[in-house]
Amino acid sequence: MKKIMLVFGTRPEAIKMAPLVKEFNNFPNNFQTIVCVTGQHREMLDQVLDLYDIKPDYDLNIMKPGQDLYDVSSRVLFGMREVLTKVKPDFVLVHGDTTTSTFSALAAFYQQIVVGHVEAGLRTNNIYSPWPEEMNRLLTGRIATYHFSPTSVSKQNLIREGVLDKKILVTGNTVIDSLYWVLNKIKKYEKLNNKIEGSILKSGYNVNALKNNRRLILITGHRRENFGEGFVNICLAIKALANKYPKVDFVYPMHLNPNVREPINKVFGEKKIPNMIFIEPLEYLSFVYLLEKSTLVLTDSGGIQEEAPGLGKPVLVMRNTTERPEALKAGTVNLVGTDSDKIISEVSKLLEDSMYYNKMSKATNPYGDGLACKKIVDFFINK
Ligand code: UD1
Ligand code: UDP
Repeated sequence: MKKIMLVFGTRPEAIKMAPLVKEFNNFPNNFQTIVCVTGQHREMLDQVLDLYDIKPDYDLNIMKPGQDLYDVSSRVLFGMREVLTKVKPDFVLVHGDTTTSTFSALAAFYQQIVVGHVEAGLRTNNIYSPWPEEMNRLLTGRIATYHFSPTSVSKQNLIREGVLDKKILVTGNTVIDSLYWVLNKIKKYEKLNNKIEGSILKSGYNVNALKNNRRLILITGHRRENFGEGFVNICLAIKALANKYPKVDFVYPMHLNPNVREPINKVFGEKKIPNMIFIEPLEYLSFVYLLEKSTLVLTDSGGIQEEAPGLGKPVLVMRNTTERPEALKAGTVNLVGTDSDKIISEVSKLLEDSMYYNKMSKATNPYGDGLACKKIVDFFINK
């Protein structure tokens, strides 16, 4: 019986680790599966735990409003010291590029516990973009013994850094496992759709508006390197677009980070634009439901760059770099940075030029077949 501890703390990590927890739980004779959440995010993490019905064994509950990188890093490190000392797992699995992953990996290393890195090997090769995530990935990659890469591109990045081939397994991204699970749930339970629409309405958007041939642009943003001027430019572009296209709904579920909300308040103020709808973060089921109904997505999110191409939704990425070049190559994702004019012209082109839109909206899924978690668990069964 192997003791496996999965550690995560933010919304995207939870979405991508939840199906892995479920898969490990399918093998109670092989594994004692322990879930430790840091609570780096609170409400946004809990939304995902509720959806997947995961009750963590340990919860460090570290979130403080407006916490900075020093706070998060040190609290994760100290918190994990306690938990690891008590549990003494054989393996610790962390995910991706957050402060939770890097400092949990470091905490495990300090007790010489073997670390497995899920979503390993993504690189922009620019340590300030995304910041601090690119460095987090590098550091976690150095600490980890086993690397679960979503694609062969990410595997090659690790090989170039000297990681041995036999320590890397290409699995696809577990986000696709999660996405399929949610899509399946939406399709299977018709009655659920009313519930989802009700929950979206409660967050502030009436999906029924789309029944009158209105189009929907879904927007999210939260990257630290865009704080300040970048976010103001993004907001100015969205404002101009909402005024230019009154028959299109611009729906923006706002991240809870106060640095994201400040420029929104500054640019939009009290004067409301009827088709510019700011709403609270959606729980994952509702978000995917809206994503399916959207015409295109404007985002700086990593996970959404992986989900949207599978649904045939063009994604304009409000960043200058991406560690996910696969969909860029497939032509369904485009980098627009935070330049207002560029954002306005690219969105306009997609709304007005149907040939251009059709070219970008081909469904393609370079990020996996929904079996990533199974491959990771099989790997540990054979360890
Ligand atoms: C973090 C990750 C980033 C990931 C993002 C996903 C790091 C360095 N950054 O960034 O890689 O893409 O999560 O969303 O690990 N807050 C709440 N409630 C919540 C969540 C956040 O109030 O449920 C507020 C708090 O004031 C918190 C702030 O947002 O202090 C920032 O959260 P933090 O986890 O530090 O950074 P993110 O920008 O969310
Ligand atoms: N998401 C969600 N509700 C929202 C916005 C996003 O459930 O209101 C999901 C989205 O589908 C994706 C993940 O959250 O799976 C992305 O999280 P985020 O953008 O915060 O982080 P990133 O992927 O950039 O690390």
